[in-house]
Formats: sequence, C-alpha cells, structure tokens
Amino acid sequence: MTESIQHDVIIIGSGLAGLRAAIAAAAYGKNNISIGVFSKVQVMRSHSVCAEGGTAAVLFEDEGDNQESHIYDTIKGSDFLADQNVAEKLARSIPHEIYQLDHWGMPWSRREDGRIGQRKFGGYSFPRATFAQDKVGFYAMQTLYDTCQKYDNINFYNEWFCTSILKENNLFRGVTAIEMKNGNFVKIKSPAGIICTGGAGRIYSFSTYSYSSTPDGIDMAYRAGLAMKDMEFVQFHPTGILPSGILITEGARGEGGYLINNENERFMKKYAPEKIELAPRDVVSRSMIREIQEGRGFKHESGYDCLKLDLTHLGDEKIKERLAGIREIGLKFSGVDIINEPIEIRPVCHYMMGGIHTDVDGKTELGGLWAAGEAACNSLHGANRLGANSTSECIVWGKITGEQAAQFALDKKGTSTMDISNDQVLSEEKRIFDGIFRGRGEINPYEVRKELTDTMDDRAYVFRTEDDLISGLKKIRELKNTTWKHVDDQSKEYNTNFINVMEIDAMLRTAEVVLMGAINRKESRGAHSRIDYPKRDDANFLKHTLAYYNSEKEPKLSWHPIIFTRYAPVERKY
Ligand code: FUM
Repeated sequence: MTESIQHDVIIIGSGLAGLRAAIAAAAYGKNNISIGVFSKVQVMRSHSVCAEGGTAAVLFEDEGDNQESHIYDTIKGSDFLADQNVAEKLARSIPHEIYQLDHWGMPWSRREDGRIGQRKFGGYSFPRATFAQDKVGFYAMQTLYDTCQKYDNINFYNEWFCTSILKENNLFRGVTAIEMKNGNFVKIKSPAGIICTGGAGRIYSFSTYSYSSTPDGIDMAYRAGLAMKDMEFVQFHPTGILPSGILITEGARGEGGYLINNENERFMKKYAPEKIELAPRDVVSRSMIREIQEGRGFKHESGYDCLKLDLTHLGDEKIKERLAGIREIGLKFSGVDIINEPIEIRPVCHYMMGGIHTDVDGKTELGGLWAAGEAACNSLHGANRLGANSTSECIVWGKITGEQAAQFALDKKGTSTMDISNDQVLSEEKRIFDGIFRGRGEINPYEVRKELTDTMDDRAYVFRTEDDLISGLKKIRELKNTTWKHVDDQSKEYNTNFINVMEIDAMLRTAEVVLMGAINRKESRGAHSRIDYPKRDDANFLKHTLAYYNSEKEPKLSWHPIIFTRYAPVERKY
C-alpha cells in the first residue's frame, strides 16, 4: 500500500516564491494549519539563490519615482501583452515587501544617507532595482529560510520529487512524490497546493539556469489538464559568459558598464539612443545579434560569436563594493578580471515569461491549486520581462498565494473531502515505474537531453523563422518518439538517473509547447522575434496563447484575452 502524508497546505518548490508562500500561509493560518514544503533539492540549492542584480520596487516617491511609472514601464516592457491589473498589483504591493524583508534581516545595500539603495536596470524610468551587492537571490533566500525557522508549522521535505497532481471533481487533492533518499513512492494529501517550481530554462543548452531548472512542476500541471500560457516568450539575457552561460548581472550595466563591438564602439547608441545599454533585454539582445551578423562581433575561443562588456572604467573600488560576485564569476569561469579587461558575453536563455496559466491572484484552473513565481504565468511580464521584476513577482505572489491557500485550507477544515480514489495513484505508479524506471528504451537519455537543448539553442533563439521552428519541432517530436525511456541505475536510494529521466520527459513536452506557440504566433512581439513576420500585429495577436495537454498527441492551442485597464498599445521606443 502506498505510504501517505497529509498537510493542510503543500508547497511544491522552495525558491523565493515557495518560501515566501510558506511564511505567508504559516502566519495567516497561525497554528491551525500545517504546511509541507516539498523540494527536489535542499532548500538553499533552489535556483533563486542565483538571482544577482535586483528586486524592482518604488521606494523613493519623495525623490520623484512613482508606482504608476512602475506599472507603465512593466506594461511597455511587456510589449503590451501584460495583464495591466497584474502589473498594478505588483507595483502597489512590492514596496511593503522590500521593507518586510529588511525587517526580517535582509542585508540590502545602503546609500550614504542610510536608506535602502537602488540601482538602474533596463527599461525603467527611475533607478528601481533594490540590491544587496550582486547577490540578491542568495541573501533573500537566506532571509526567508531563516524566517521560516520561526514557524513550527512549516515542514520541509528536502529532496522529494513530485510527479503528478491528484484531483477530484476539479478540486486539488494532493500530489504523488518520490522520496529520493529511499526511493519510496508517496501519496501527499492536501486540500490546497501551490506550485513554485521555477522556470524551464534548462530546455536550452546555453542557459543561465541551474541544471535543476527543468519544467517538472509546470509539466505536472499540464498533464493534469491545466494550460501552459505564453510559452513561446523566452527571454535571452544580453550578458551570459562563455562558454558556460553563467549570468553577468544587468546591474553591471546599471552601474555604468558598456557593451562594445570589435570596433570598440558602444553600439547600443544606434539602437536605443535614449536608454543605450539599459534598454529592455529583448531590444539589447536583438541589437547584439545584429552586430554579430554584420561582422562586428568577436570570436570566442569556444567558437561562439560574441561581444564584450566593458567595466574597466568603473574602477577597482566600485567593482569590489557592488559587483564582487560577478568579478569572481569572471575570474573563475572566464579567466577574466573585469577590473582590468572587458569580458566576452552573448545573449543567453535566462527566463520564461510563460508558465502555468493563473489569474491575477495566482489561482489556477483547478480549485485549491495556485502557482507563483516563474512556474506561473499570471501575465505580469507579457512578451518580455523587465529585469528585477522577477524576484519582485516571487515575493509578491508568494505572499498572495500563501494567504489564499491558507484561507482555503481553513475553510475546508473539518470537512471530509480528503479521500482520493486510488486509481490516480496506481496509474501514476504505472506511468513512472513501468513506463520510465523499467522502460525498455535503448537510446541514452542524456544524449536525448543534449539534442533537445541544442535544438532549442539552434532553432528558437533570439531571431526565429518558420522553417527553423518547424524543423525544431520535427526534431523534438522525433526525440519524443524514439525508444529512449529507460533508467540504467536500478537502485532505489538517491537514484538521480531516474529523476533525470523524468526531467527529460517533462522537458520534451515543454519544448514542444514552446515551439508550437512560436510557430502559431506569426508576428514579432517582445522576446518573440520572427524574421518572417517582423512587425507586431495587434490586429491579430494581441492575446495570450494557451496550450492544453492532449495525451501524447499534439497540444491543443487556443487564445486568451489580455486584461487592459488604462494603457492602449503604442510603439515601443527606448
Ligand atoms: O541581470 C540580473 O541580475 C538579472 C535579474 C533578473 O533577471 O531579474
């Protein structure tokens, strides 16, 4: 008989959104509810610890900044695909959260006058990225993890891999999971759940994401019948180092760094005369690729074409004070000391604007289930996210979803709604143990993963064409249909081979949705730039893409309206 655990609220994923949700649920439910946080890694290994440059918020209204401007910058940055009520919720909620983190011990960098410091970031009208040197994610995670320790009703389950959603009558009932240390298959019952498993950016080879950033949580929702939304919008951050793809924060340009070509020219002046290097990421990445295509790039020893980021004029003191993390990254992973020489960089997969379709409060289409952070698509970022708006999103919607899930669980207390038919558990057991663990595939799954991620790099990068996208989709489907599913390591304990194969399975389905959405959207908007349809087409495509799972056939695509409040689309100029 399958082992079973029960909590009032379960949170799947333990990055910034997951931890903020846990604290919110624990505080809101007081000692009347128990919370389980399930993470496939140890909490402090969640990808959120890699966030570098900042958390966007309006803190200096007395110095001229204002929340309406944060709302508009976000909407304009999104190429008018953002839901405008969601942008408003972010801008109004995040200032309080910055001070809340401060009170919990977050070591925000300070100005000379003692107030919390903010730096410039791309696409904003005011320096709005609240920072802690260049290690915002690490410090915010530590602060939230420490704060979680104050609550006896938060229970951490480190190294548990959730595999499927259990539901009944369109209500969430829990998940199935593998406890990695012993390989046990466990049923986790709960009336309320929040998916906070982060983004899917490891479906690309050249990526800033941790190797664990695979779309398991997103795919689990998709297989349960919930839509993935706007998956064609993939953000390429201008400054990934070579050959690893590790991020050099946009904060480097916020502090005054330049991008240069092989003529030593600050080429961004031609493309974004006002914002220059601090135009939004989609604009800067496209400009970089154009420079390369027109012969003004450099050749990195790895063979990649690239450009350079020059920080040498900032000086030793400023770099050591504000950009110490990226200096270390440059030294260790590129062999370059940014104090003394420009560093080679190239646009790199950094963020997925799409994710599990939710409403403005992070509610999914399944009663009792929410999603927050990068795994979710509440339509805050539309077609292109502004830097520093992601950690803000995690914090704001972690709190909202945590409180709502706690209220939902309190309302369900005492009702006997927790029985789940065993059929779903049995069919999931069959899917993963018969279909994957004891699968008979022969092809090496790690080769499949490499071909998948290389295909995405090649066919769905900064500029896209129908031919490339269609051939990419063909390749992904070929990979999906080969007999690859098998697990060489048949041990029970800490079987990372088994986990990796399940991750690859989710990656293939997700890559298919990204490519189908990109083929279907015959326009250029935000980060989705089609050479064959170079213009934004508001008449036909001012709408979100939804993709629904259709067993192992093609996903079913449909459209979903954008919520407008007060901003009509205009041409974006920077
Ligand atoms: O460049 C950065 O520090 C990244 C920030 C972000 O993606 O929000």
